[in-house]
Amino acid sequence: MSKVKVPAAGMTVRRMDFEFENLPRYWADNDPFLTHMLNALSATFPEGERMFIESVRAFRDRISDPEMKKSVSDFIGQEAMHSKEHSAYNNYAKRHGIDLGFIENFVTQRVAFIQGNLPPIRQLAITCALEHFTAILAEQILTSPDFYEKLDPAARELWLWHAVEENEHKAVAYDVFEQMGGSYVMRVRVMALTTYFFIAHQMWFHARLLKADGKLWDLKMWAKGLNTLWGRPGWFRKLVPAYLDYYRRDFHPWQHDTRALLEKWKRELALDEHAVKKVA
Ligand SMILES: [Fe+2]
Ligand SMILES: [Fe+2]
Repeated sequence: MSKVKVPAAGMTVRRMDFEFENLPRYWADNDPFLTHMLNALSATFPEGERMFIESVRAFRDRISDPEMKKSVSDFIGQEAMHSKEHSAYNNYAKRHGIDLGFIENFVTQRVAFIQGNLPPIRQLAITCALEHFTAILAEQILTSPDFYEKLDPAARELWLWHAVEENEHKAVAYDVFEQMGGSYVMRVRVMALTTYFFIAHQMWFHARLLKADGKLWDLKMWAKGLNTLWGRPGWFRKLVPAYLDYYRRDFHPWQHDTRALLEKWKRELALDEHAVKKVA
């Protein structure tokens, strides 16, 4: 397939103020396995998304194309809002006595190491890899009623809104990486390493949250959870082909054209009501 760049669906920075006050302990299908898997992911977002912002911002002054400059600003605005809302969400866990602090500390240290030791283009390659993960996970969320219908309403809105915006800006870091001369070899090498660390860390976080909750040895829960993720069809199993697309030399995030899907969800969630007015 040739590298066809579908024009982006357009990005909007939105201010959200979700209320997580009444979120139950197991807000995902009343299931500790699923809830803690998503808790583990959410705990990485505030610091992780700040790293995404910094990695793209580092190249902002070298971008001359006004359209790309605007995309970068919108990307930064959206990710900053995700950090804010996921921090609020992570506080729900504290009220239930669930400790996400060890994950936040781990990610903070890891990000400090990356920022202190890797060249900016490699930091951007990590962002591109993780943005591919979030884009395909987001598409999966938006097309899986068997997932989102099981979530408590406040959590559902948070994850759906985040999924929409991850899809809106899925090509920004990638386009900057290419524009700045990032190579194919670096892109796929970094993806392979990032995949290893991302999965290993998420599994460790997940298991530790389940252990702290006294659920680590609930074999029935594990069987159900693993079947949901890796059985047939299996949420993660379905993602494998989309994940592998990243290794194609001519890959571009908009080869997965999700514009119609985004329009549907923007209407359904009335997202345009939350658009932030541009100051400049
Ligand atoms: Fe995000
Ligand atoms: Fe993102």
